[in-house]
Amino acid sequence: MARPVTQYVCTSCGAQTRQFFGRCSSCGSWNTLVEQAAAAPADSRRRRPAAAAIAPAPRRSQPIAAVGERPLQRLASGYGELDRVLGGGLVPGSLVLLGGDPGIGKSTLLLQSARAMAGRAAVLYVSAEESAQQVKLRWRRLAGMEERGGEGEGGGESAATGVGGDFQLLAETDLELVLQELEALRPAVAIIDSIQALHDAELASAPGSVAQVRECAAALARIAKRQDTALLLVGHVTKEGMLAGPKVLEHLVDAVLTFEGDRFASHRLLRAVKNRFGATHELGVFEMRDRGLAEVSNPSELFLGAGEPSSGTATIVACEGTRPLVVELQALVSTTSYASPRRSATGIAVNRLHQILAVLEKHLGLPLSRFDCYLAVAGGLEVEEPSADLGVAAAVVASYRDLTLPAGTVLMGELGLGGQLRPVGQLELRLQEAARLGFTRAVLPRGSGLAKAAAGLGLELLEAGTVASALVAALGVNPAADQP
Ligand code: TYD
Ligand code: MG
Repeated sequence: MARPVTQYVCTSCGAQTRQFFGRCSSCGSWNTLVEQAAAAPADSRRRRPAAAAIAPAPRRSQPIAAVGERPLQRLASGYGELDRVLGGGLVPGSLVLLGGDPGIGKSTLLLQSARAMAGRAAVLYVSAEESAQQVKLRWRRLAGMEERGGEGEGGGESAATGVGGDFQLLAETDLELVLQELEALRPAVAIIDSIQALHDAELASAPGSVAQVRECAAALARIAKRQDTALLLVGHVTKEGMLAGPKVLEHLVDAVLTFEGDRFASHRLLRAVKNRFGATHELGVFEMRDRGLAEVSNPSELFLGAGEPSSGTATIVACEGTRPLVVELQALVSTTSYASPRRSATGIAVNRLHQILAVLEKHLGLPLSRFDCYLAVAGGLEVEEPSADLGVAAAVVASYRDLTLPAGTVLMGELGLGGQLRPVGQLELRLQEAARLGFTRAVLPRGSGLAKAAAGLGLELLEAGTVASALVAALGVNPAADQP
């Protein structure tokens, strides 16, 4: 038998080589070559013998009309916020990848959801990162939350029998053993925490390497599809915020969810980046408590602070890629005591602030060069896109004139240097998010043509062509008139 040959494949262009290089000789990208399991010899592919050409092979395709429709069965995950992001619950035989920074609460979310499902379906929890003891400790911690929260629903007896009856725990990193256990148990739901910690002994590369992650995920996917197990995989995120492992992992799974949040704040956002069984613009909001994650049914309070609207604040809807997020901006404008006024911005590029101040000075006639100006994005978020301009302008002007924007107003629009408002992308998505979080008025660039899209959202749309008219519409007074 021939010695198995190691192949290296470029994850970026797909080129194959026999030798490892730091740089792909085909497409020139660095560190993209990964080891691939020895390929089966080419002749093992069953070639149709020439004789068979005479007798036609049996047909495997069918007319689409003949394809039977099965209603999609979904299993409720026990948490409405998670179900919403999944598109209405877990689909049997589907693969869901949950990504997020370390310590954000991925394990907690899935263990809680497993607890909730274990009463109705068989659940296997594969802990590849933590020992069984550690999982048990967390399980006990979460149990405390249920007992405290819902004494009326028989939470007391659950610890003894009820909850946990159908919950199987496996602390294992060897892929082969995990696959065997999946076949033996045939659970309705299996959770793999995490896919990077599993390893396939047949591959020489280290756990977490691209080849390992891909092989493990593919093997799990095959078995999940075969026995209709819903698989939830935990995936790590790299420093750049990408899901670690090859892009192929994202192609392989049916849904990619991301779990994110500020390390210093308690709220956590769950979003779908990809979903074959539902929409991707749903948002789930949780709060991390000392005994697990709690669902947040009214997230606007969490994001926007409990306080009354104050002068110098404005709310925008930022979009990171396809993800809309409602964000509060705060500005402070005060008389300067320096020769050149101070400008500082957190969460927004300071050059952007300079430019907006110059536009306001020129086109509204506000003498902002005699004032210091500080700007901050609440919650430690970074807002890069120019559609935040109008919100920044509104916050600055509101602080300068000591005005308060009416509650429930969001602003969106890019400022041109001539004081005109430029349209922003993905407006529909942003308006949906604003409406979902309870906002009632949106100030937008003119010509957005969204009357139809916004009809069902209950949002009042105020369209404006210039920053001056947008601010008049938003504030209800002309900020340029009767200046102090
Ligand atoms: P974890 O689920 O382990 O994160 P991940 O799996 O994404 O790495 O969450 C760990 C953090 O959550 C940890 O810093 C402690 C915190 N936590 C709570 O605040 N309350 C809790 O009830 C639990 C279980 C964890
Ligand atoms: Mg974890």
